[in-house]
Order: sequence, then C-alpha cells, then structure tokens
Amino acid sequence: MTHSTTAPGAPVPAEQQEREAEITRKVLESFDGCTDPRLRQVMQALVRHLHAFVREVRLTEQEWNKGIEFLTRTGHITDERRQEFILLSDVLGASMQTVAVNNEAYGEATEATVFGPFFLENSPEIEPGGDIAFGAEGEPCWVEGTVTDIAGTPVPGARIEVWEADEDGFYDTQYGDDRMAARGHVFTDSDGRYSFWGLTPTSYPIPHDGPVGKLLEAVGRSPMRAPHLHFMVSSPGLRTLVTHIFVRGDEFLDSDTVFGVKESLVKDFEAQPAGTPTPNGRDLGDRAWSRVRFDIVLAPDGT
Ligand code: BEZ
Ligand code: FE
Repeated sequence: MTHSTTAPGAPVPAEQQEREAEITRKVLESFDGCTDPRLRQVMQALVRHLHAFVREVRLTEQEWNKGIEFLTRTGHITDERRQEFILLSDVLGASMQTVAVNNEAYGEATEATVFGPFFLENSPEIEPGGDIAFGAEGEPCWVEGTVTDIAGTPVPGARIEVWEADEDGFYDTQYGDDRMAARGHVFTDSDGRYSFWGLTPTSYPIPHDGPVGKLLEAVGRSPMRAPHLHFMVSSPGLRTLVTHIFVRGDEFLDSDTVFGVKESLVKDFEAQPAGTPTPNGRDLGDRAWSRVRFDIVLAPDGT
C-alpha cells in the first residue's frame, strides 16, 4: 500500500475517507452514555463540525500546533479585565450569530446586537435630560426616544443602561483607574419617554495588542468598530434588549470588525452648530452638539 497526504481540494481516496469517518463515528459514540441530553447534543454536534473542518482543510500537524499555540496565548492574556476569548468569538462572528439565534425577530421589536466587554454594573442613575459624561471628553449629544411594547403601548419605568467610548475611543474601564464616565442609567417616564446627554460616538479599535489583533492583521482585517452608543433596556415582562445605535454615514459601517451593524440601528445624529438652543436649556457655550432619536420597541419576555 502506498502512503501519501491528500492535498486540500483534491479528491480523498474512498478507503482514506472511510478511515477518517470511522474516527468521527467512534468519538460521537463516546458521548452516547451522557445522561444530559442537551450536553450530548452540543458535544456531538461540536465533534461533527470540528472533524468536518479538519478533514475539509486537510489540517496539517504544523497548523494544528499553531492553533494550539494561538489558543494558549489567548488564554494567557485573559484575566478579570481582559477577555480575549470573547474578542475571538466577536471577530469570528460567533457572538453575533448567538445574538441572532437568541433574539429572533418579533413584530417590530428593536433588533439586538453584540454586548461587548465594557458594560459595568452599578452605573450612576441619571435624571431625565441629565448628562452621562462625568468628565469624559467628546461632543455633547442629546439622545431621546420612547420605549413601547410591540402593541405600541408606552413602557413607564423601563431601565435604560447606556455606555460608550470617549472621543479618543476609550471606555472608562480602559484607563486603568477607578473612573466611571460616559455611562449611566435612566428610567422612562409615565409616557415611556426618556432623554439624556451623551457624547457623539466615535469609531475605535477593539483591543488589538494580543493574539486576536495579530490574527486580524494576518488576514488583512481592520480592528475598527463603527461608532456606536450601547443600550441595555429592561422592564418586567419584556425581553431585555441589548443593542447599540450607529452613526449614519460613518466609514466603518460596512466593515465593523465584530459584525454588529444592522441597518435598523443606524440613526441620524444631526449636527447642531454652536449656539443652537438645546432641548432642555443646557448652556453649552461655544460648543457644537448633536442630537439623535431612538424609539425602542421591546418584545414580550420568553419570545
Ligand atoms: C464594544 O462595542 O464595546 C465591543 C464589542 C465587541 C468587542 C470589543 C468591543
Ligand atoms: Fe462599544
């Protein structure tokens, strides 16, 4: 018998195919005794897809080693402040695919997008029309809208968490001190309305000084995210919505590195020249500002 390695794309001899399929069968069978049916289903599907991948690309042993080294580096850079595995999931679109699977379209409910790593519990509460900046630099942006259910009924008392990067593209958590800035939460009023001052969003790169950044560089992809403002909206009896709004016209809308952009979430941030009166009488001196409207529709819980 002659021995050789089938090149990627070349036909795999029938006898070799059978040998490879036999390995997959044995591994799948090894989970048959798992008494948790969901765990069995997930593990068997994982094995099927993983083996199919190895066979399809005819993975070399050097490539297998490189993969293991990559995952090892990903683990080593991960700690309580930095989660490189989530970043990897994000740039592979696995996070957005999971969001899609778990937030099926429901009537006119607002679409969800990726959560990202920069949310913090215990953000400050902001009065209606208050400012979330807390010293973060950036152009002021008036944000207003309503929260309704899919029947159009206003949702009073909905909790709206918002967070964003400053004009240099950094979240407060990235400064390595204890500051809390450019984040907060507001509640809708009795008519389901909300408003606050944020910052006009700017684009920023995801953390790209680690293995995920190297991967993006190797494949010629940009680490940039399209400018956005994060929202998490919750109210009892309604599906919690995690989403962002994006700035219409931005250059990175079509190449957002974590695939988070959805057309329905792209909004007009209207530029307001310095001196334009503000909606709540805030005196901005000689600063320009912007304004955006985001009406939020929540699906019922359990949908
Ligand atoms: C973010 O939007 O904050 C984000 C999302 C995914 C990866 C990195 C950052
Ligand atoms: Fe973000």
